Amino acid sequence: MSITNRRNFVIGLAAASASASSTVNAQSANLASSSFNLPISPIDNIATQANYWAAVRNLYAISNQHINLENGYWGIMAEPVRMEYVAKTEMVNRENSIYARTQFGKDAESARSQLAQAVGADTSEIAFTRGATEALQLLIAGYNKLKTGDTVIYSDLDYDSMQYGMKWLADRRGVNVVKFNIPEPATKANVLAAYQQILIDNPKAGLLLLTHVSHRTGLVMPVQEIAAMAKSRGVAVILDAAHSWGQIDFKVNELGVDFVGFNLHKWIGAPLGLGFMYIAKSKLTEIDRAMGDEDYPATDIRSRVHTGTTNFATILSLPTALKLHNDIGAKAKELRVKHLRNYWVSRARELKGLEILTPDEPGMYAGITSFRMAGKVTAEQNNALVAELRDKYGIFSVRRTGVAKGQCIRISPAVYTSESEMDQFFGALKNITARS
Ligand SMILES: Cc1ncc(COP(=O)(O)O)c(C=O)c1O
Repeated sequence: MSITNRRNFVIGLAAASASASSTVNAQSANLASSSFNLPISPIDNIATQANYWAAVRNLYAISNQHINLENGYWGIMAEPVRMEYVAKTEMVNRENSIYARTQFGKDAESARSQLAQAVGADTSEIAFTRGATEALQLLIAGYNKLKTGDTVIYSDLDYDSMQYGMKWLADRRGVNVVKFNIPEPATKANVLAAYQQILIDNPKAGLLLLTHVSHRTGLVMPVQEIAAMAKSRGVAVILDAAHSWGQIDFKVNELGVDFVGFNLHKWIGAPLGLGFMYIAKSKLTEIDRAMGDEDYPATDIRSRVHTGTTNFATILSLPTALKLHNDIGAKAKELRVKHLRNYWVSRARELKGLEILTPDEPGMYAGITSFRMAGKVTAEQNNALVAELRDKYGIFSVRRTGVAKGQCIRISPAVYTSESEMDQFFGALKNITARS
């Protein structure tokens, strides 16, 4: 189906869905169902329900240029969300400041409270940002409990710009900065042991940066255990959840972390340029106001972000993105991307000379998983493999740097990715490993 044909078809679907009444809630009824014309399926074996995922796929206008296994950068909007975004963009442009000054505040508050409910926070604990970067930079820069001579800790798997932020704290707060490496191959036990050891080795630690799902390898961190460990030593944790919510089903209040930066334009499928910050209610005073913001009182989390004039339509489209996320089913999405990951990883483990960088232990992986050919750790070697996958097999992937043991290639399927696409990727891997 060409993009144009698919788009027409999808628009038809979405138009039909607009008139469809809301059906059973996927989570509460243990069913995956939808007002977006998704078939009702039992959640137990939802990950492999071909008709369900074909219907999900039909909600997206997907380029047929390549098989896109690089959905970790950001997630395309489903057509109903894209259409809402276009409609809101047109409305905002037409109504200009009359809308922005009279109605946007109320609409943004409604979106914020729907988001709070979906993520398991109080509305007063979240504030919109333009993405995870803005949220996390403000948390790292704004954390005001550090004293000169304290230690701040991060790992090789944390995101580059958050590592920069942690290093910058040396000048900003006069702290010592410690970087350590996550073990490879990783297991839950050796990851926990590594965090425990780094905390023991650094008794003056005051702040730990932790990444929920690594953008480098896909490794999922046992956040609750690490956060409890840190807390028992009086170490605050800033959690980078850029890749987790939407890829994994969880509520923020289950994690035991007080400061979190989220994205909404990766795995929730909101328009580009949207994320949010979470600060546990009792910890708000531990983050400074953003550049001395006076638009909101110091008791309001919105004083911790000062974006300036924003793209109103991104926030206005969020309720539709959240509704779709909920209708597909947060758990169903997690199970599907894990299934797609297992679908290639279980066979790739048998291929000679291939290293898979996430373990199969439950809780330690989600949809993203990186691999490398043993010994091929340089940029040139991995660029060549990315190019071969793209040019010879039509598969788009991305090289990732920064892993202590060497560079690798990241594979990130989306909820709309099909098993046959993963088969094609596995076939390519098989050919490549057979040759070397
Ligand atoms: C782990 C992680 N943290 C933070 C970010 C920053 O997200 P954004 O660029 O959307 O603000 C990313 C983006 O890829 C990421 O993967």
